[in-house]
This record gives sequence, structure tokens and C-alpha cells, in this order.
Amino acid sequence: MEEEVRTKTAERSASTAPHFLRSSHHDLRPVDLWRTRHILRHVIKTFSKLVELLPATEQSKPQIVLLAGEVTPFRNDTDREMPFRQESNFFYLSGCRIPGSYLLLAFQNGTSMENNPSSHLFIPKAELADIMWSVPPPSLEEAAATHDATRVDYPAALPDAIQELVKAFPGALVHTLPTSNLFPTIPSQYTAPFLAGNVHVTEDYLLTALHRARLIKDANEIELIRRANQISSRAHEVVMRVLGQGVRGTIKPGKGAGTERPLLPSEWLIQKEAEAEALFVASCRREGAEHQAYLPIVAASTRASTLHYCCNDREFSWGPVGPNDHKNCNDLAHNHERVLDPQVLLIDAGCEWKCYAADITRTMPVGNGGKFTAEAREIYELVLEMQRLSFEALKPGLHWDAIQFICHRTLVRGFQRLGIFKTPNSPNSGSWNSEESILASGISSAFFPHGVGHSLGMDVHDVPSASKPEKNETIKRIELGHESFYTYLRLRLPLEEGMVVTVEPGIYFSSHLLAPVRDSKHIDQEVLKRYESVGGVRIEDVVLITKDGFENLTTVRSDTEWVEKVCSGEI
Ligand code: GLY
Ligand code: MN
Ligand code: MN
Repeated sequence: MEEEVRTKTAERSASTAPHFLRSSHHDLRPVDLWRTRHILRHVIKTFSKLVELLPATEQSKPQIVLLAGEVTPFRNDTDREMPFRQESNFFYLSGCRIPGSYLLLAFQNGTSMENNPSSHLFIPKAELADIMWSVPPPSLEEAAATHDATRVDYPAALPDAIQELVKAFPGALVHTLPTSNLFPTIPSQYTAPFLAGNVHVTEDYLLTALHRARLIKDANEIELIRRANQISSRAHEVVMRVLGQGVRGTIKPGKGAGTERPLLPSEWLIQKEAEAEALFVASCRREGAEHQAYLPIVAASTRASTLHYCCNDREFSWGPVGPNDHKNCNDLAHNHERVLDPQVLLIDAGCEWKCYAADITRTMPVGNGGKFTAEAREIYELVLEMQRLSFEALKPGLHWDAIQFICHRTLVRGFQRLGIFKTPNSPNSGSWNSEESILASGISSAFFPHGVGHSLGMDVHDVPSASKPEKNETIKRIELGHESFYTYLRLRLPLEEGMVVTVEPGIYFSSHLLAPVRDSKHIDQEVLKRYESVGGVRIEDVVLITKDGFENLTTVRSDTEWVEKVCSGEI
């Protein structure tokens, strides 16, 4: 037996099969909804956007698309696959999550192909090594039964299929995705027949067409995003509830836990960012989500002011948290008296479901018996207000810039209420401290530096080229405040029914961002000091723009009363 295993290992190492033919195919279950021709509708929609982009003289020509799917990545010297995730555009047009696949599409405006484009899918053939080491790809018959393709073959048939198309459609334009490390490369053996046939191959239009098509989601896509949001919402609630149980003291290690035996999940306390992250991911994974849509951001204490904090490795703070503890280290956790400081825990995390994303942020109280401090609650409620007023405005036709402005205006009003920004009635102030003057100064960008949201779909920051026109006139309109409000805004369009966007206002007290405004005449520095230890608060939900307004696809609650009750273990 040992001998046999050794022999097979040697065979595998010596295999000349390229990696993509030896890739793993762990989840080949079809996405049930894909069987309703809606992938074909994605294809038709993409071609129609593509034709709109072409010069008039090219529009009636046959259009061909050649795409490579993602291959399974391998980690060096482990002979073990890393997680496979299909390239989003490939998945959109094929519904295929089989590594190492190709797709060949053909379409012609004004012909019967306008509603019936051809879709030829190429999936790798199962190799002995696949079967022995991993899960093999499906057979051609299985793949044909579970995909919306006109035909399914092995990649070896791709050069001939291309030749046939070139012959059948003289003068066709061939479209590929841009050559870049963002997209899988099409081996030259597959593009050679086009070049040999003097066929015009272009990468100028396809990505733009795909992004435009993907901007508006169909019912099937919305269901997948809804599912990703439900799973992720439960995962956020799991973390909050375990924090609450910790406060109540109901998580008790059983006999021998941590000494004679490891702790079981029911005995885990959350006392570090890493523990919160592990629970979040475990909750998504046990519900079947394969991937996180992005690496979770799990930041406690003043680290919450780092927008895309990426360490997730610090203990909660034990001991006074000052504004300069941004980079506090684990030493803080080892005071003799282990009393948890009042602090926030910001978790920005969402899983994906069948390649569709969630993107949710919750900020929760830690220490202080699971309640926010007075200052943290004031900031939390102000961020909630920014989000609530944004929600009230959402509807098709409203320009997204207006939502960004609503958030800044709400922040300025809130800071004036709290005394962080001076008001015309404060001592030593005047009309230069009016709401309008403060907005015009751009100072609120030091506290809310990012965009209020972005399009979300298969990718978290979805369809960037369709989200942000190169020229945007809106910011020139004085009533929309200061140019800095829009620097990092990823969506610069009027809303449309069927868009899915995040609404994620935040307020941060970052020493880096505050440095340039330390001497600002608008800020009462004494009052600001009281708030700096809050670090940061962000609240992020995913919403669908509907005919009359919006639907919130994120189900975990964020109202202060519920969050505090859960995090303190009262409910
Ligand atoms: N999770 C990154 C973002 O909210 O945009
Ligand atoms: Mn987001
Ligand atoms: Mn997020």
C-alpha cells in the first residue's frame, strides 16, 4: 500500500498536465437558479451594451467573445490548492465555477442571434490525478445539464471551434478582456486562429460593456446577494451575542478546559480581534459560504479609525485608551487587573454566496458592561442618523452625490450640537461658523473621509468603470459642499431601480486625519479631546434600489437599544 501511494505521488509530480487540468472541483453543485436562461439573458444584455459602445460602422457586424475562466491557484511546495474563486465576468456570462474553463460566445445584432446568442463552454477533462487527489470536473454531459450553454466541450476543441466561427462569420469583431493581471490569460494557442485568419481582436469594449450590464441586478442576482447578506447578518449577530454572554459570565470553561483539553467553541470568549474574526468566519462557513467577499476588518478601540484595518490581531484594550493608542499592542492586555476598557469593536465583514457579496459593518460596545460610553453613543447615534437620512432620500433618479452631501451635512449639524464644531452662538465665533461655511471649508472630510457607499454585486466594489464617469459635473454645484467630500466616492451616478449599493456612513477620530485640522478655527479642541478615544464608528448596510425607494437586504439590526442589549447579554 505504501509503495502504491509513493508511486502515485511520483506520477503526480511527474505529470505533464498543466495545473489547470489538475485542479480541484470541490463544489460542482449547479446554482439552481442558473437553469432559467438567465445566464443567457446576461449574455444578451452584455452584447447589447457592447454594441452601443461600438462605432456605428461596426454595430451590425457579428461579435465574438472569448474568455478564460480562473484556474486553481496552488501554494508553492505544498501540492495543495488554494481557495478557487471564479473570475466574476466569466461567471456572469457562463454561470460556470469549474476551474480552467473557457467560453466562446457569438452574437449578431438584427439577426436571430440577437435573442439567441451561441454560448460554447469548454471545461477541462478529468485527469487521473484529479480523481486520485481531488474532486474531478464534471463530465461533458453533467456540465451540459447544469449550465446555460449551447454546447459543452473540452478545451482541446477550442481552436477548431474558433476556426468554425471565423469561417461562419467573416468580418466578425472578437472581444476579450484587457490583458492584465486582473484577468486570466488566454493562452496564445487559442487566440492564434483569430490572428491567422486576420480577424480583428479588440479589448477596448468588453469590460466596459460587462460593467454596464452588471450595474443593474436581475431577480436571481438579488436573491444571491440577499442570501449572502442573511448569512453575514447572522454572523454579525453571533459575535454580538457571544460578547453579551461574556459580559453575563455565562461562558464557563468546563472541567479541564484550556489545561487538559482545548476549549470547545461554546467555551470561547471574545477578548481579541482575532477571536471575533474567527467566530464571524466560522458562522458563515457553517452556513455553507465558501468565501468571505473580502478579508474581514476587525478593529477594536482606536484602531477602528483605520478604515481598512488589516491586522485583526490585537487584544482588546485593558487600561486607559488614549488618542495615541492607535497602535496599541498586546502588552496592554496584560495588566494585572484585567478590566476591559470601554471601547468599540468595529467589524466590517461579509461573505459571498455563489460569487455574490455582502458588505456589512457593525460597531459594537465592548467593556463598560456591553454599553457604549456616553461619547461613543453620541457618535454612534450620529452615524445612525447619517444613515437614516440617507435611507429617507434613496430613490431612483437621485444622484448619489446627494447622499454623500446629506451625510456631511448631518455630521456638521451633529458636531455643532455636540460642540465639536463651533456654532455662530459660541463665544469667539461668527457667521464663518455657520453650517454652510463649515461645509464649504471641507473640514468634515477629516472625520468622514470616505464615500458613503458603492455598487455591490459579484465584487464588493463592483463595476468600477460603470460607477464613476470620467467627468462629473455635480461637484461644481455649490450646494453640494466641498470637493473633498467626493474624493473617494466610488459611485457618481443617479440611482436606478435594480442597483445594489452600500450605505456606510462613518465618523472617525484618526490622529493622521486630524493632524492637518488641529488648528482649525471651526473645532473646539477641548470638546474634541473627549471624543477622540471613541476611535471610529461605521454602520454599513446593503440596499436594493426599488421602483419607489429601497429595500434593505441586511437583516442584522443596528439600533442602539438592540445593539447594547445584545452586547450586554440582556437579551
Ligand atoms: N468593506 C469595504 C467597504 O466597505 O467598502
Ligand atoms: Mn462597503
Ligand atoms: Mn464594508
